[in-house]
Formats: sequence, C-alpha cells, structure tokens
Amino acid sequence: MGGGGKYRSVNISKGESMFCPYMNLESFSNDIFNKLKNNNYLKNYENIALKNEFIEKLSYYMCELIVLHPFSEGNGRCIRLFFDMIVTFNGYEYIDYNSTLESSDYISASIDCMETDCERMKKIIENGLTKATSLVKDKT
Ligand SMILES: Nc1ncnc2c1ncn2[C@@H]1O[C@H](COP(=O)(O)OP(=O)(O)OP(=O)(O)O)[C@@H](O)[C@H]1O
Ligand SMILES: [Mg+2]
Repeated sequence: MGGGGKYRSVNISKGESMFCPYMNLESFSNDIFNKLKNNNYLKNYENIALKNEFIEKLSYYMCELIVLHPFSEGNGRCIRLFFDMIVTFNGYEYIDYNSTLESSDYISASIDCMETDCERMKKIIENGLTKATSLVKDKT
C-alpha cells in the first residue's frame, strides 16, 4: 500500500464522493480518535447484551473513517482490519463482509456515509458480526 501510513497530501474523490480535504485530515482524525478514546476504544463490548450498542458505535466510527479516507491507497482494507481488531478483542469473529464486497453493497453503504447516513453500513456490520465460539467450547 503506497504512502506508508502517512496522511495523503492531495484531495481525492471516488465517483461523486469527495473525501475529507487533506488540509483537515490531522484535525478531523484527532476529533474522531479522541471520541474513540472517550469510548475506551470500544474495549468494553464483550457482553452480548451490548451487541446492538456495539454495532451502533462500530458503524458510527466506520462511517467517520470512510469519509476521512486518510491514506492515498488501502483505506478500505485498513479500516476493515482496524474494526476486525476491535471486534476480536470483544470476543467476536472477523466481520464477514464477503457478499457486500463482491456486490456493490459495501460501496453503496460507503456512499451513504458521505451524507452521514450510517444505516446501510450498520446493516452490513449487523449481518456480518457473530460471537467467536472457540473460547466458549474450551470452557465446557
Ligand atoms: N464512490 C465512493 N464513495 C464513497 N466511498 C467509496 C466510494 N468508492 C469506494 N469507497 C470507499 O473507499 C474504500 C476504498 O478505498 P481505497 O481504494 O483507498 O482502499 P483499498 O483497500 O485499496 O480498497 P478496497 O476497500 O476496495 O479493498 C472502499 O472500501 C469504500 O469504503
Ligand atoms: Mg484501492
């Protein structure tokens, strides 16, 4: 992936979508990650009773990062990896995006994010999120 984790230094768009102006990347990124820090980086969502709230938060932050689009390449893969790390920390399997990546669903949901409409991304996460079973088995 080009850029080596550095903020891009140009404005970019995909289709009709213009991502965060590069001049604002640092300050907007700080806003998002400060908020995430205040949510304890979503580390407290192991309890299945909190699953709906977890999905709500995951989709909110995913939408924010999709709009930010901080790098020149690899944003999609980085963002999905980032949230997979968060969900596995909370005892979930990697989010299953497969059918939405094969079709245009993930892109359509991303386009909605540009208008701060996270509903379709929330549905994608909801459909793809399941508890890991291996630890449960070990305890029985
Ligand atoms: N038209 C669009 N409007 C808004 N967001 C888009 C659009 N097309 C793609 N995206 C978002 O940009 C991401 C792709 O960005 P980028 O090419 O930097 O990442 P990638 O990891 O190389 O690609 P991919 O996500 O396809 O694996 C997609 O995953 C999606 O979230
Ligand atoms: Mg790409």
